[in-house]
Formats: sequence, C-alpha cells, structure tokens
Amino acid sequence: MVNDGKAAPIIHAALKRLEYRGYDSVGEATVYDGRLLIKKDQGKIDDVHKRLDLDDLPGKMGIGHTRWATHGAPSMVNSHPHTDCSNKIAVVHNGIIENFNDLKDELTDKGHVFVSRTDTEVIPHLIEENMKSGLNFVESVRDSVKRLSGSYALVAIHVDEPNKIVFARNASPLVVGISETGLYASSDIPTLLPLTKKIIEVYNGEMVILSEKGVEIRRIEDWSPIKRESSIITWTVEMAQKQGFPHFMLKEIHEQPKCLEDTLRLQQRYIDLLTTFLDRSKEIYLLACGTSYHSCLAASYMFSNLCNLPTLPVIASEFIEQYGEAVNIDSTILAVSQSGETADVLHAIEQARFKAATILGLTNAIGSTLTRVSRAYICQQSGPEIGVAASKTFTSQLMVLSQIALRLAKVRGKISQEKIDYLEEKMKDIPNMVDKIILNQEKKVKGIVEKYKNTKCFYFLGRGINTATAFEGRLKLLEISYIPSIAYPAGESKHGAISLVEKGFPVIFVCPQDGTRKALIGNIMEMKARGASIITIIDENDKEIKALSDEYVDIPSDVPELLSPIPYVVPLQLFAYYMAVEKGCNPDMPRNLAKSVTVL
Ligand code: F6R
Repeated sequence: MVNDGKAAPIIHAALKRLEYRGYDSVGEATVYDGRLLIKKDQGKIDDVHKRLDLDDLPGKMGIGHTRWATHGAPSMVNSHPHTDCSNKIAVVHNGIIENFNDLKDELTDKGHVFVSRTDTEVIPHLIEENMKSGLNFVESVRDSVKRLSGSYALVAIHVDEPNKIVFARNASPLVVGISETGLYASSDIPTLLPLTKKIIEVYNGEMVILSEKGVEIRRIEDWSPIKRESSIITWTVEMAQKQGFPHFMLKEIHEQPKCLEDTLRLQQRYIDLLTTFLDRSKEIYLLACGTSYHSCLAASYMFSNLCNLPTLPVIASEFIEQYGEAVNIDSTILAVSQSGETADVLHAIEQARFKAATILGLTNAIGSTLTRVSRAYICQQSGPEIGVAASKTFTSQLMVLSQIALRLAKVRGKISQEKIDYLEEKMKDIPNMVDKIILNQEKKVKGIVEKYKNTKCFYFLGRGINTATAFEGRLKLLEISYIPSIAYPAGESKHGAISLVEKGFPVIFVCPQDGTRKALIGNIMEMKARGASIITIIDENDKEIKALSDEYVDIPSDVPELLSPIPYVVPLQLFAYYMAVEKGCNPDMPRNLAKSVTVL
C-alpha cells in the first residue's frame, strides 16, 4: 500500500521478482472508489500483462499473486485473487489449506457459491461468513484463519476498509517491508529490495495489519500484540538481478568462486556450535531434497570418512517411513535446505522433534522456518539464488559441510593433524580452482553441447563421493533441458542400466584422481566395449583416461577426494545450462518446477 500514486505498477514489478516461485498464472486486486477491481489470468506475468495491462488498475492499496498450481489446474478462474460471494473481499494465498473440502461443504450448505477448484477460495467465503455474524473485517480474518489447517501466507482486503491489508502466516514465508512512501509485504525479501531494505519478519501463528497507523503484529491465538524491531537487509538490489548474464542460472554458476570464498569466511563460531551438537550424537541424519540432498549424499562420505560417525543421507519425503521410528534422543538431524522452507524437510523435522532428536540446519535463508525450528543453524552464505535450478547452492553447501566434517574430525581426534592441515589448505584453493574451470572450460563445454545437442538420453556415472556429483549433473540436465537422463554409482550400472548402452550412447564419467580411479577405468572399458561415447570430467594430468575419452573437460590437479565434488560439478552445471539454451528452454524457469516447494 502506497501513500500516493498507484499500487498496481508496484505490485506488478514485485510479482516479476517473485515469479521464480511459481509462474502458471498471475493476478492483482485493488480497492478504488468503493469497488474491488481485479485483473487475473493464466500464463506468465509478461504474457498476462500484454493481454490485460496489469499496471492499469487504480488505487493506492492492492494485492497480487503469481501462482504454482496445487489445487485446480492453471486457469483464469483458479488464478488468485479469489473473492467472496458479495465481491467485497479478495484473498491471495501461498500454501495449502488441508481442510478446504470440509470447509467448502460447510460453506456451500450455508449458501456460498464457489467458482474455482482451489483450496484458497474457502478463505474469502469464511471471512464473509464471519462478518455476517457481526465481527469486523480484521476479527473475521483472525477467526477464519483459526479454522484453517495447513500452510499459508495469506493476504486479505475488503472494499469497506480501503486503507487496510491483513496478512496471516503459518508455515509459509512472509515478510513486511517499510519505507517512507509505503508499506509492503511479500513471500520473500528480494521482492521488496527495490522498495525498501527495512524488513520485519513475520512468524508462524501471527497476523499483520498494515494501515495508515503503520504495522501492527498480533499473535492469532490470543490476539496479544507483538513488538518486533525491523532489520536492515544488506543484500543489494543488483545482487538479486542478472548482472548482464542472459539468465540467472549462468550468473549464479559464475558467482560460485565468490560464494565459496564467502563460505570460507566468518563461519567459525557456528561451525563450532554445530560440531558440539554433532559430537554428542550417536548417529547423524542428513535430511534434504533435490540438489540439497545430493550435497547431503556427498557429505555423508565426508562425515563417515573423516569422523567415523554413522551418517545417513535421507531424502526428506522418505524420512518418516524410513527412519521415523528409529530416530531418537541420541540422533541429530542436520537438515539442509537452500530456501529453509521446503515442506518435505519441515515435515520430516516435525517427526524428528517429536522423537526428541536434535535439529540442526544449513540454509541460505536466515529467518526461514528451518532457522526457527533448528537448535542451531548455519548459513550457506551464497546470497539470493533466483534460477530455479540450484547451482551455487550445491557448491556452497558442500563447502560448509566439508568444514563441519573437518572440525568434527578434529574434535573427535579421528584423523591426523597432517591430514587436517592438508585439507584446510586445499579448501582455500577451491574458489580459485572453480574460477579457473569456468574461465578455461566454458567454451569447451559449449562445444560438447553443440556436438551432442540431438542426443535423446545421457548416462552419468561416478564412484564414491562423486556418485553425488553424477546424480547432481543428471538432475541439472533433465530438469532444465528435459532430456531424460540416468545416473548411477558406476559399479552398480552393470547390474541393469548398462543394457541401455549401444553404439554412440553418451556416458559422462566423473573421474578425479582418487581411490576410485582404477575401478572407474574398468567401468569406462565396459562402456567402450559396448560402443558408448565417453565424456569425462577429468584431472588435467590424467593422460590414460583422456586417451579413452571421446571428449573430456579438464579439472586442475591435486584436489583432495573429499572436496572433489565442488570443482567437478561445475562443468556439469555448464553442460546442463548450455544444453537448455541450445534446446530453446528457459533454464531459469523449468516447467512444472518452483524454486521453493512449500507443499508436501
Ligand atoms: C534442483 C532444485 C531442487 C531443490 C529442492 C530443495 O535444481 O533446485 O531440487 O534443490 O527443491 O530445495 P531447498 O534446498 O530449498 O530445500
């Protein structure tokens, strides 16, 4: 809401910055001259704007939404904002209302008419129903929210309250921004940065009322007022923009040397704290989804090797079924989530907390739910990642996790001082090494993409800790270029997947000079014998494997095995990026995906 001028162009621009979180439909609503005005439709923001002119709505106060469908297919009627029967109340919502069917039946029985198939639409109708019973708008929102189960960051406006916007939060992110010229709220901080750097976080179970009086925060349960200081965000606007790169993903790949350096700085006290908790535990579960899970998989090799501590990497959505009963007071969960809001991770944590396990977090989003449910947490320190496909997330997380593993090894006295010194020294070289790889190998990777651009399937293989690198390379490629691809620990491939291999079938091997090398050469020979085209990511001095390769990408020598996924993944990120561009796909916005998956 702005002091003067129009809210709609501000909302439109803010939605553009929020588009990475979902982009199948978009909508805005303002209140003007006693009327609720709405523009919304299916499609990406730019397309809908071309059709409807999203800037054209009058009014100083408004709300907007960019959607990633959960209930009801992308369509105009299912787009937010949603309204009540009288068309006086408009609501946008991020999250899922689990009990919406029951509420919808109840409200339908009372005569409410629903037009969409969304869960969100029950909210304006609930508010309308509460107002009928004599409550004012804010009280009605409060009582409505109390009846919702599920996750929400929701916003409601009413035509009769043209200077008031009401927000509520449970398990979906929400922040408020304050400036001289207006009050704002959004699901994330980068959206607000061009408007203000003065931010107040909103926590679960809280409601916020923005009005001419300012910002009022209340606990929903007992309506007690909450005083919370604002903080100044130091991220610059440019940090959240593309900085001259054609896509965020490429910018973020190129940012990795800087992020890795940042990750090496200033973490010591948090690393110490996390190490203290980890040292006390009988077993460690590394919990995550997607790319963050691949970081955990690699980290499990680090922890097991350096610290002699059973460490189990677990896909968060499987945790309850797999380990829900086993987890106990002696277990520690180290949850790894860039966004800190991934619903599968938070859900698994709930179960672990119930069993009295210790929860630790590694995230990129301080103030996220993960940081609040963790006993202690650490930041991956890589700045906002806008490209939907995670890139700098993987390398930064690994840099933090390797530091934690090393510190724990020291504390537990499990490796020699010599090895600790060596690894600590080598860690410092990694940012520079990644810089060199990008500088010297990007062109080569583009050339490989050009040669294999019509390939229908790729096979990624690695051994040991670089099994995780192979998995991550596969995930990057398939999620942004839609090329079905497979990844295996190289030793396992002969137990089935090798049957896919025929003449010219491309197999990408991750081959550092380490303990797995000999066995890996055996796997390369198996593939060559069946006519496969061999592409290797390889130590620059490894002449033997180069001679076996149809294509190779050089990685500087002398990377310790346990740190090798960090440099070795970089060519695979570039490969996926250029393949997506070659195929005309937008790497920043892969179809059906969202940056932060806040549903189970
Ligand atoms: C892959 C990707 C996703 C995320 C996953 C977890 O490129 O971006 O697989 O890694 O959704 O997200 P966070 O780390 O936010 O929990």
